[in-house]
Amino acid sequence: MDKIRAAITGIEAFLPEYRLTNEELSRMVDTSDEWIMQRIGIKERRIMTGKDKATSDMGAEAVKKLLKKTGTNPDDVDFLICATITPDMPFPATANIIAHKVGIHNAWSFDINAACSGFIFALITASQFVESGRYKKVVVVGADMMSAITNYKDRTTSPLFGDGASAVLLEPSPDEDGIIDHIHHVDGLGRLHLHMKAGGSLRPASHETVDNDEHFIYQEGQTVFKFAVSKMADVAVEMMERHGITAENLAWLVPHQANMRIIDATARRMGIDPKQVMINIRKYGNTTAATIPLCLYDYENVLKKGDNIILAAFGAGFTWGSVYLKWAYDGNSVAG
Ligand code: UT7
Repeated sequence: MDKIRAAITGIEAFLPEYRLTNEELSRMVDTSDEWIMQRIGIKERRIMTGKDKATSDMGAEAVKKLLKKTGTNPDDVDFLICATITPDMPFPATANIIAHKVGIHNAWSFDINAACSGFIFALITASQFVESGRYKKVVVVGADMMSAITNYKDRTTSPLFGDGASAVLLEPSPDEDGIIDHIHHVDGLGRLHLHMKAGGSLRPASHETVDNDEHFIYQEGQTVFKFAVSKMADVAVEMMERHGITAENLAWLVPHQANMRIIDATARRMGIDPKQVMINIRKYGNTTAATIPLCLYDYENVLKKGDNIILAAFGAGFTWGSVYLKWAYDGNSVAG
């Protein structure tokens, strides 16, 4: 039997209504629209508001829309995986809560914690289930409510992050299109430069940890920047070389959206035109596990069956990787 390939056959997204602009942020911390646009490239980010709202609410909205768009009966979903570093609570998994909220009852599910590489790690994990032949409909969610762990008194991290969710359906591909290859890496030493100090078993929550603002993102920006620029480009270029992909036959690079300067440097190393790069950092900021599927969602209209696409990410862990896939359908429709 020929190898089964997993293909993305539909995509949907949820973005909260509230827009936190650079102007509003400049009234909260000592920053400016000019600095943020020059150094990062973000104009505004979406923020989840409302009492008792959490990551699962965004993920569930994206999955509900996905099931509707693809005509999928929730009972037919075999497996759901959610990439997030902002789970509703340390346990149980946010994936389970999403499944419950959308009426997926015949599936099992779990979360993946790989920060900004979360979606590509989850996508490859999920694709193994489809490739096994046993799973026909798998949902992959990338969802993060970064506002829950962002310190809006810290000007070095607060401009960077936003909230959002996106979900894709993975099914066996009827042809050669679908997920072809991946190159994924981790380096646990990188944890020193990007982490949350408290709230885990190392430093359980206490009055002291709260007083010290230790339940927020801690980032040594310059060090992370240096690793991100070299590692994300390394895996994207390696993927091109491995498959004979050139600037001519690559349709799109879909990079994690952390900083416009990192995205530009990656595209330059790959020798591709800026027009071949999906970018939406300006309007959503860094939504961690949601950036890559949110790009695919925003550009879905212009995607064509057979398009060569490279996904690339770098994030806390450190984690980084790239995925090579051939898009499975034309425009804003669904495959099949
Ligand atoms: O997605 C997960 C992976 N994360 C990333 O990929 C993020 C990687 N890092 C970055 O994107 C960048 O390092 C940042 C955007 C976080 C910071 O940019 P930078 O160019 O590395 O700035 P910097 O930290 O070197 O700071 C330069 C100056 C400093 O002032 P002095 O010491 O030169 O006087 C900062 O205090 O900019 C200052 N600064 C700000 N000024 C205005 C830092 N944040 C701000 C701000 N507004 N928001």
